[in-house]
Amino acid sequence: MRYALISDIHANLPALQAVLADITRRTEVGAAYHLGDLVGYAPWPNEVVDLLTDTGVAGVAGNYDSTVGTDYKHCGCRYEDPRQEELSHLSYAWTRQHVSPTTKTLLAGLPFRIDLLPQGGHLAGPRVVLVHGTPTLNTAYWTADRSDEFCMKMAGHAGAKAGDVIAFGHTHLPWHREIGGIHFVNTGSVGRPKDGDWRAGYVLLDVGAGEVGIEFVRVEYDIKTVMRAIRESELPDEFADYLRTGGRPTPVSSEATSGPPSLS
Ligand SMILES: [Fe+2]
Repeated sequence: MRYALISDIHANLPALQAVLADITRRTEVGAAYHLGDLVGYAPWPNEVVDLLTDTGVAGVAGNYDSTVGTDYKHCGCRYEDPRQEELSHLSYAWTRQHVSPTTKTLLAGLPFRIDLLPQGGHLAGPRVVLVHGTPTLNTAYWTADRSDEFCMKMAGHAGAKAGDVIAFGHTHLPWHREIGGIHFVNTGSVGRPKDGDWRAGYVLLDVGAGEVGIEFVRVEYDIKTVMRAIRESELPDEFADYLRTGGRPTPVSSEATSGPPSLS
């Protein structure tokens, strides 16, 4: 079974449209799921939720989804400096003001976790566990430098064993590791990557009898339209530059596999 896993769309409708078109083109993909954070930072929260609903892409609650959905006091996001904290609060306030009652209800109703058993529920595995952050909290950051012990502790919480997969997002940085036969996959971000590559990112996951395959995919999208829409909205203009540089507004990394488009 081949799955497409998409995470951290963050109200970036053109990025989501490009990724869904790329997935549709791959006729071998059996199902697509999202790993949460549908809203925040860009001006299309309702349209993103509508498109996922219309295309039948189910998924789990990101921290942004569950905090908007429950009127929590902040988005549960991490910030590295006071300006980032200020921007984060501005985005959260804007998003809460602009989500429709229908969107808010849908965000509040997203499940915390989804389990997939591609060989059928009549067998013990393999199992694919989908969460946003970790199996314990959707606000916890599961970064690539986490220890093997941490990963195995999370596997214990998820009830995962050798041959299983735990897929998550939240950090916006894609990575994959296998420990004790368990695959840990951060799918990266569709709508707000932080690895220096502006293109939308997602994962193709193959799970069969005794085999797991993971492919990281990047897709170009109409970023100029997104940057213009952010600047024309009351969202901070900094969010446009953040997207253009793949989360590295100063200075742009030479590691980027595709340079940011030149924009006026
Ligand atoms: Fe996110």
